[in-house]
Amino acid sequence: MGVGEFVTLEVKDGVGTVRLDRPPVNALNAQVTAELAELAKEATERDDVRAVILYGGEKTFAGGADIKEMATRTYPEIAKFGANLTGTLAAIANIPKPVVAAITGYALGGGLELALTADWRVAGDNVKVGQPEIQLGVIPGAGGTQRLARLIGPSKTKDIVYTGRFVKAEEALQLGIVDQVVAPDDVYAAAHKWAAQFANGPAVALRAAKAAIDGGLDMDLPNALKLESHLFAALWATEDQQNGMKSFIENGPGKATFE
Ligand code: CAA
Repeated sequence: MGVGEFVTLEVKDGVGTVRLDRPPVNALNAQVTAELAELAKEATERDDVRAVILYGGEKTFAGGADIKEMATRTYPEIAKFGANLTGTLAAIANIPKPVVAAITGYALGGGLELALTADWRVAGDNVKVGQPEIQLGVIPGAGGTQRLARLIGPSKTKDIVYTGRFVKAEEALQLGIVDQVVAPDDVYAAAHKWAAQFANGPAVALRAAKAAIDGGLDMDLPNALKLESHLFAALWATEDQQNGMKSFIENGPGKATFE
């Protein structure tokens, strides 16, 4: 188990849970940012982690970057903090395994930006998400204007970023900010169900799928198609491909088991 003061990584049956624990709202300060980066690296490198859940506990996911820590920063200090947080969130987005965010309570500012690094978001029906930075006289600084716009488009992102309003779970689902809404007590279990289905999946093929989809979205279509084509062909060098196709031919669809 990876342990920081405010963030831990607990691994069970192939699923690694990155748990924020900095009451009352898991505000992301410099230390949380550093610990998250360390555990993103650990989740990336450990073979026994096959899928990841980002979780802030039963009460709240994260209320954003730590406003009290940021308020009196100088320009060079805040530039460093912003770059570190952006780098940490990139490290989480680049974990080459399925990642799901389990959102309870609030995911605001840097909290929503953290959730946006996941492949998929499960939320309690009472959650509120948003990018309220404008009400602090600033803008989102760790992906809120970029990952959100790529996920739901520029107009809806501008509504959320310009107003800073809190978006309730049902609307977040309609907008596509979250992918599933469940009862508040069921958030972690629903996220775990999603992650656990990949614990025995073809890890190398899943890594390639994520690299193709996320990498391709950063490119123009011809280059993205080339990336996909290369990753597709590369899988012929893997046991995942050999197991998967042999099993299909011998046993029919959906019966393959993977290391
Ligand atoms: N940073 C530091 N402290 C925070 C915080 C934050 N982002 N959010 C809440 N807190 C603190 C409050 O100051 C309060 O502290 P005290 O008990 O010492 O007074 C405590 O957490 C509980 O907060 P509330 O009393 O406000 O609790 P609530 O349940 O009524 O509301 C909340 C919770 C909706 C999260 C509300 O606190 C809130 O709106 N927080 C700010 C959200 C925000 O603006 N986030 C964006 C931060 S900037 C950012 O993230 C930049 C970026 O993109 C990188």
